[in-house]
This record gives sequence, C-alpha cells and structure tokens, in this order.
Amino acid sequence: MTGLVGGEAPGGRGGAATGASAPYIAPGATLGVIGGGQLGRMFVHAAQSMGYRTAVLDPDPLSPAGLVAHEHIRAAYLDPLALDRLGERCAAITTEFENVPAAALATLAQRRPVAPSAAAVSVCQDRLAEKAAFARSGVACAPHAAISTPRDVERAADALLPGILKTARLGYDGKGQRSVADRAGLAQAFAALGSAPCVLEKRLPLAAEISVVVARNANGEGVHLPVQDNVHVDGILAVTRVPARAHIADATQAEAVALATTLAEALDYVGVLCVEFFVLADGSLVANEMAPRPHNSGHYSIDACDLSQFELQVRAMTGAPLFAPRLHSPCVMLNLLGDLWNGATAPDWRDVLTLPGAHLHLYGKEEARPGRKMGHLTITAASAVDAEARAADAARRLGLAATAGFAATGLAPPIGLAAI
Ligand SMILES: Nc1ncnc2c1ncn2[C@@H]1O[C@H](COP(=O)(O)OP(=O)(O)O)[C@@H](O)[C@H]1O
Ligand SMILES: [Mg+2]
Repeated sequence: MTGLVGGEAPGGRGGAATGASAPYIAPGATLGVIGGGQLGRMFVHAAQSMGYRTAVLDPDPLSPAGLVAHEHIRAAYLDPLALDRLGERCAAITTEFENVPAAALATLAQRRPVAPSAAAVSVCQDRLAEKAAFARSGVACAPHAAISTPRDVERAADALLPGILKTARLGYDGKGQRSVADRAGLAQAFAALGSAPCVLEKRLPLAAEISVVVARNANGEGVHLPVQDNVHVDGILAVTRVPARAHIADATQAEAVALATTLAEALDYVGVLCVEFFVLADGSLVANEMAPRPHNSGHYSIDACDLSQFELQVRAMTGAPLFAPRLHSPCVMLNLLGDLWNGATAPDWRDVLTLPGAHLHLYGKEEARPGRKMGHLTITAASAVDAEARAADAARRLGLAATAGFAATGLAPPIGLAAI
C-alpha cells in the first residue's frame, strides 16, 4: 500500500541498470553540496551522521548549511576558484537548490561524479522545459502557454483564463507568480514580473495536492518515499500529512509514484527528485513541477521513516545501496514561517515540545521575515488520528492556528485529545 510505506520504484531496481556497477564512495570521503540553505543543512547532518566529511559552497557567511559543514566555501556559485576547490576536496557533489547555474555542475562533472546532472537540473530550472519533459513522458500537466512578449499576451487562448502567470525561471514558494483573472490582468501581471519569460497556466480546481520523493542511483536502482499529502497557503507549503488523507485514493497515490518513477528514468536521474502533483476532483493527476533535490514536503521522513530523504540523497550520490523507506509513524509536518516570530522573539518552543512526538527542526536563520522558512515541526504518533489532533494542538500553541489562511489546512481544533 503506497499510502503507508514507501517502496521500490516500479521497474526500479535494476530496471535501467547498464550492467556496470557505479563506484561506491565510502564514509570518510568528503561530499560537497552547492547551496547552503536548510536543505543543504539537513543533507550535511545526514552525511555527517554516516561518517562523511562535508563541504558547502554558498556566498552567504551565515548560510544554514555553511554553519554546520566541515568546510564552508564562501563564494559565488560560478567562481572558478571556488569550483576548483570543491572539485578538489569532494569525492562527489550534489545540489540543494534548482537555481544553481547548470554551468557550475557541468564544470564539476568533468572531474567528479555530480548528482543530479547539470542536464536534469536545467530541465527543472525552467518551467517550460519541465512541462516539455512531462509531455515527452506522457505525464499530464496544466494547460499552458509561453508568455515572453506583449504579443503572446494578446494571443494567449481564452481557455487559459483565469490563470496563473509564473516566471519560467527562479520562482519558489509562490514568488514570481501572479493570479490573473482576465487579459487586462495578464498584461499587468506580465509587466509586474518585469516582462521576464513566463508561462501562463490555467487555474485548475484542485481537490488535493500530493508529492512523491523518488531516489535513484547510478545503477538505475530506484525507491520512493510514501506519498505526501500537502496543503499550501498563499503558494507556500503549510502542512504535509503522511499517510495521505482518505480522500486521496490508494490508486491515485500509486499512479503518482509510477509517474514520478517514469520521469526519473526518462531523465536518467541520479539523486533525489520530488514531483508535485495536483489531484483533480475526478482523481486524475496533473504534474505541477519537479525539484531536483530533497523537498520541503519530504522533511517528515527524518522523523517518521526508517530512511530519510537526506540519507537517500547521500546514498544515491555515493553509489550506496538503496532500500525502500518505511513509514514507522503516521505524522503531520507543520512549516514554521517567519510570520510566527514576534520581531526577534521566537514562539514558545518549550510549550510545543511538551507534546509527545513533537520533533522541532530550526534552520539557524537569524532573521525571521514573513514567508521565510525558519524551521518545521513534525508530529509523529501511533495513529494518524492522534498525529492530526496533536498537530492541531501544536498549531494552536505556536500561534499558527490564528494566522490567515490556516483554515485551509483542515487541521481541526483539538477536541477530546487525551491528556498528556
Ligand atoms: N495551475 C494552477 N492551478 C491551481 N493552483 C495552482 C496552479 N499553479 C500553482 N498553484 C498553487 O500554487 C502553489 C505554488 O505553485 P508552484 O507552481 O508549485 O510554485 P512554487 O515553485 O513557488 O512552489 C501550488 O502548490 C498550488 O497550490
Ligand atoms: Mg511548488
């Protein structure tokens, strides 16, 4: 059952193997990551706990991953000296964000194994290239059109409105997007986005959103995490539940896994890949976007699975064997955005940490800004019902339940929760 456990990707193990076994990089070696955000930080934690040394390339002296790595190379991503040092130090290199210049990965790949490849990352960097990759693999995506000129604005099909105009590159957490009701709104949004190359997507009626994290190594072995049931508020992930709620059928989840696996194989992907899907009212799936890295919706795997997405990243890039992660505890993950901070004052962690199964992760970011991902809280429990009730309680204690848009998360106020 895909909802409760992860698994071996359909046709995964050995499915795309070339016969030759990729070299294995043993603990003790240094693993490099380009990008120093929270995903890099959690990758560093996983790599270090497995006995690897770590190096992070990020220009920010206070980058969350740079703060915890053995070595922090503080330089721009395309700095030739920095890339040279990373290549010299590291036995293999990965990335933690999709906007790393593909040229940096290509340069490093001349010298060391780089996972994912520059080619795979560049597909995920551009929404149009990504949608073309979906189409090549027979994976449905939202009706859309490229909008690069005022003429494209005039010519866009009426059927795409109301829609969402998204910059083709560099968008994240709902940034670089505008909701557009009509053609006048489209023209305004295009101007507001600096007339950058964009894609106009039809706004779809979403019954749910799910995502699948798959991992694949150079031998073509593939596994996946259990399917994530995600709720976004204002374009930013707010809550992830695993297992997915009952309205997301097992068959829908199995299909999402199969599609994500197909995409990873089509890209000859090595590393961790997350594919986000919209679920429509009839249960059909529409691929939204792909991330060539661990994903916010997969953070729960640290506390609720016997193999996390970050350990999968380490295993995939080092040529270590992969096994199918198993969900050992139903869970709910709450994202902790800067909105929860009152100026420099953080929420009362002690209060929320009294809840059994509460796992707090803070990313070491100094400044709390609205919408900024500061950390996450995963609540694990013996049952999904308990995880849900405790997560609702945690949301209340954190002040999250009082924030705008919280009702959309479906986290009901705790009633009848066992006294703790
Ligand atoms: N075509 C669409 N129809 C309906 N909702 C959408 C559409 N595109 C995006 N959204 C909503 O906005 C969220 C963020 O959009 P996404 O394209 O994933 O951008 P980002 O790169 O910022 O994550 C989605 O998770 C979904 O909730
Ligand atoms: Mg997204």
